[in-house]
Amino acid sequence: MSPNGSLEARYPGTAGPTGMLRRDAWWVEPLLTVLGLGGFVVYATWAGFQNAFYFVDPYLSPFYSPCLSSNCEHVSLPLIGRWWNLSPAFLVLWIPGGFRLTCYYYRKAYYRSFWWAPPACAVPDVRTGYSGETAFPLILQNIHRYFFYLATGVLVFLWWDALEAFRFPDGFGMGVGTLVLLVNAVLLSLYSVSCHSCRHLCGGRLDVLSKAPTRYKAWSLISKLNEHHMFYAWISLFGVAFADVYVRLVAMGVIRDIRFF
Ligand code: FES
Repeated sequence: MSPNGSLEARYPGTAGPTGMLRRDAWWVEPLLTVLGLGGFVVYATWAGFQNAFYFVDPYLSPFYSPCLSSNCEHVSLPLIGRWWNLSPAFLVLWIPGGFRLTCYYYRKAYYRSFWWAPPACAVPDVRTGYSGETAFPLILQNIHRYFFYLATGVLVFLWWDALEAFRFPDGFGMGVGTLVLLVNAVLLSLYSVSCHSCRHLCGGRLDVLSKAPTRYKAWSLISKLNEHHMFYAWISLFGVAFADVYVRLVAMGVIRDIRFF
């Protein structure tokens, strides 16, 4: 018996024209997710391939930070020699990319919206059978905690870039770009700190939380932030894309950075 048939059998006369019980616009959320995530992936890939207009003193695009190649326009850490001829973005983008790809929230989002497994509550899967994340390849999603550690390292550099954005060629100052990079670092920090792996790091493996008051406090705070992890995931995604667009447009001379002082 098909899933739709079973619904009709169990709740006669309640299924809509699609054979489902849901008659609301359940498809809006998956559609927006496809547009948002898909658009970001396309833009980030394009920006990573550009290998240009990612630095305009004192602003470095977060897509290229930390800049690890000696060929970078603004070297953060010269770990890779001049032999690296590709875009320096590729040396680092895999870290935040892997962090988001394995994120508990994004997993739910793209399983639902891209794979339709299932696309929404009470809407049947497009495929029959569910193998879950206990077998290859999805078992690799467990690598998330290690991406969390790596992404924390990248975040340190992004904060450093935000501070460096106060150091103009003619001395200390602040422009719109400084603000953009600062806000980007704050949003990415909220996303990272509200991560489930971060929460586990603070409060996991503790049988009696009261015996570790500091960890309990940190865990309680992170648990509160964790409730809004989806919001931080989206807002930080737009924030980091906006920061790259801003630096790019200033570097290209399309817009002028306004200097506050
Ligand atoms: S769960 Fe989303 S970043 Fe860790």
